[in-house]
Amino acid sequence: MTMLTIWSETEPTEPVLRTSDPLRIGDELAAVGITFDRLEVRDDVDASSSQEQVLDSYAALIERLCASQGYTLVDVAQLHLTPESPEELLETATAARARFLNEHTHDEEEIRFFAHGSGVFYLHIGERVLAMLCTKGDLLSVPALTTHWFDMGTLPDFTAIRFFRSDDGWVGSFTGSDIASRFPTFDELTQAPSNA
Ligand SMILES: [Fe+2]
Repeated sequence: MTMLTIWSETEPTEPVLRTSDPLRIGDELAAVGITFDRLEVRDDVDASSSQEQVLDSYAALIERLCASQGYTLVDVAQLHLTPESPEELLETATAARARFLNEHTHDEEEIRFFAHGSGVFYLHIGERVLAMLCTKGDLLSVPALTTHWFDMGTLPDFTAIRFFRSDDGWVGSFTGSDIASRFPTFDELTQAPSNA
C-alpha cells in the first residue's frame, strides 16, 4: 500500500508521521515541492509485461504527461525477483539496488510512474526525511537537486515508467553522507503497520 513516513533526520526510529491517505500524502509532499499523484492503472500490465507492452498500454498517459510537462524521453525500468531467481539475477539486483541506495542528487527532475510493484524514495529535505513507498498507480516527481535515495528492496519487484527532459541530465551526484544507512530499509518499511 502506498505510504508516507516522515522522521526528523536525527530520529530514524521514531516517525513523526505515517499515513496511507493519498490526500494527506499529496499535501505533505506538495508542501516541500514534491509532486505526487495517483493515476488510473491499466489491468493489462503485470510483472510479465515487456517494456513495449508497458509503453503501449500507457501510451495515452505518456502522451498526456509529455505534452503537459515537456518530457522528451520515456523508458521503462523493471526488475522482478523472487527467492527462486537465479543467483546471477540476484547479484545483478543487488548491484542495481546499491547504486542509488546512497544519498544523491540529479541536475534533472526524477519522475517515476509505477505501473507494477513498489519502491521507496527517501527525500532528505530540510531537517526531515520523507520516505515515500510508491506502489502501482503512483506518479512521483522529485525536483532537480533534491537530496534523496531510492530502495527497491532485497527482492526488487517493480515496473516504472521514467520520464526525462534530456538524455544527459539524469546522472547521480553523491553527497557522501551515510544517512541512508540509519533509516529503515524498503524491506523494513513494507512490513511496517500503516496508521492511515
Ligand atoms: Fe535518484
